[in-house]
Amino acid sequence: MDRNIGLEAVRLTEAAAMASARVMGRGDEKLADQVAVDAMRKAFNQLNIRGTVVIGEGERDEAPMLYIGEKVGKGDAADPEVDIALDPLEGTTITATGGPNALSVIAMADKGNLLAAPDTYMDKIAVGSSARGAIDLNKSPSQNLRAIADRKGVYVDDLTVIILNRSRHEKLIDEVRGTGARIKLIGDGDVSAAIATCFPETGVDVLMGIGGAPEGVIAAAAIRCMGGDMQGRLAPRNEKEIERAQKMGIKDVKKIFEVDEMARGNVVFAATGVTSGDFLRGVRFFKGGAETHSVVMRSKSRTIRYIQSRHTFEHKPAYG
Ligand code: FBP
Repeated sequence: MDRNIGLEAVRLTEAAAMASARVMGRGDEKLADQVAVDAMRKAFNQLNIRGTVVIGEGERDEAPMLYIGEKVGKGDAADPEVDIALDPLEGTTITATGGPNALSVIAMADKGNLLAAPDTYMDKIAVGSSARGAIDLNKSPSQNLRAIADRKGVYVDDLTVIILNRSRHEKLIDEVRGTGARIKLIGDGDVSAAIATCFPETGVDVLMGIGGAPEGVIAAAAIRCMGGDMQGRLAPRNEKEIERAQKMGIKDVKKIFEVDEMARGNVVFAATGVTSGDFLRGVRFFKGGAETHSVVMRSKSRTIRYIQSRHTFEHKPAYG
């Protein structure tokens, strides 16, 4: 996969972020998502790749655009075949209410290298590189926090654990509180939360709990690029979701996936802030244009690039 793909991919997340940021705070999740999808889909037409959406907006019959299996990009035989995991708007409710940490995200890898995860839940644990190798979903949250603290050379009380604020996490939250670790409960956005564990300046050490499985694969791609660690195990809610997972090639639905089983080989990841958050600023509009703040990373080189772009609508009417 060409190393410039990341710099191309960021155009997609910039377009989607600008579109959804326009409708921030309107209380309309569907609209925020729809405009992001439309903008990203359109931007794909400029990209010289032969892409297949592996993680997208859903099944073909329920998502008209960026559905699983959709071919994207204007590449020809000479261009690379890549698999794509995307979420044009990660944090629809966040955007609808103008909250923090909504992102537009995309991950690309050579064909066959991204886990095709069904639209179900996934139990996740993620940490930055300083705790790599210290996590194990077979162990209890307390045991994991002990191991992470030891690996980092800190007390468990010094750790901050980020958890989605859901009733399904009551037991988890109680147990983490019992260890003395600090907790940051979030309303939405566990991709951003997983990535935050890899940036020490965010003060977040661990992500724990159950969120979307597609979001798990996207987060794994980012974490691969930063040398962090993550495990995920599907948490299907019913027989139908189990069947769906098996149909998509996951024979053992109880399997614990390591970070490099979810995102293998050369991975490229790009994200643009829709609303301001822990590691990216949100879109800011000004007369005749907008400014976006993005991050682009590659697993091969582990280079992390921040890209601040100024877009002038007169010359980019599609974004205005
Ligand atoms: P959307 O952007 O699709 O609304 O997802 C937001 C999110 O919070 C994800 O970050 C997370 O993985 C998932 O929803 C959790 O699902 P649920 O809201 O059903 O607990």
